[in-house]
Amino acid sequence: MALTIENSCDQPRVSPKEYLSYLDRNIDPRDTAGIIESAPMFATIADDERLLTENLNAYLAGFIESGAQAELGNQSFLIGVNGCYILRCNIWLPLEEAELSADQERLEKEVYFFEKPHDHNFDFLTVGYFGGGYRTRIFEYNRRQVEGFPGEKVQARFLEETTLPAKKVMMYRAMQDIHTQYIPDELSISINLLVDNPELRLEPQYVFNSNVDRIESLVPQTRLSTKCSLIPIAGLIGDQNTAQLLEDICLSSSLPDLMRTEALNALGVLSGTAAATDTLQKMQVDTKGGIFKHSIAIGDCK
Ligand SMILES: [Fe+2]
Repeated sequence: MALTIENSCDQPRVSPKEYLSYLDRNIDPRDTAGIIESAPMFATIADDERLLTENLNAYLAGFIESGAQAELGNQSFLIGVNGCYILRCNIWLPLEEAELSADQERLEKEVYFFEKPHDHNFDFLTVGYFGGGYRTRIFEYNRRQVEGFPGEKVQARFLEETTLPAKKVMMYRAMQDIHTQYIPDELSISINLLVDNPELRLEPQYVFNSNVDRIESLVPQTRLSTKCSLIPIAGLIGDQNTAQLLEDICLSSSLPDLMRTEALNALGVLSGTAAATDTLQKMQVDTKGGIFKHSIAIGDCK
């Protein structure tokens, strides 16, 4: 299950830089157990009461020095990066403080996936830094039993509903834990360690329906979806060479299923349903056929 990790009182405090350096030197990003073992050290970062203020000040100074070039997300900022490890700070505003209109509230929920069950394609540790924390409902599922098309039935197991108050440490496992976050009742701040496991970078992330028993859609703006974003355009404006390349992508079993699905869709648009169906038959997709057969452009040819 998503793990709640007990803090150790005798753990010496480390700085973000020291922690990231420790991870980079000692822990393979594919080693989830090793990352969990580092959690007590990670938790000490949240003991530094000056951390947030000093980082915010650094960003403000950066605006003055570099003309607002500093990379900054909405309500989140980078604390540090070393190799495959990224430390971020997330600020969770309650709706009253955010002073949002109904449209803004809807947008905010969509951008941050509030109230939308979803998984991640990376492990992450999180620790509460300030406030009562967001509320979250956590489920787990077996990714190996999922093909990954919208509407697909999923057997997810409810684990718990909990919050992330200050000092609490949790571990979310890549492609296994599903969580639904709710906007917190009070201003809350958390620190996250994101693990950029190279083997998982091109895995899709899913949004599930509210009952968490079906895949609703893919999380947009992942590395994979960004790479795939040109493929539908190729279907609209391509030529004969494009059609051949799309078929080559479809037949490359080493490429991600989503990329091959997009290529099959695009081929259907460019060359017609019959061509896409021929390609589907060449793909030899006995065990993972569902994701391809559910591709929209050839949906009537299943
Ligand atoms: Fe999430």
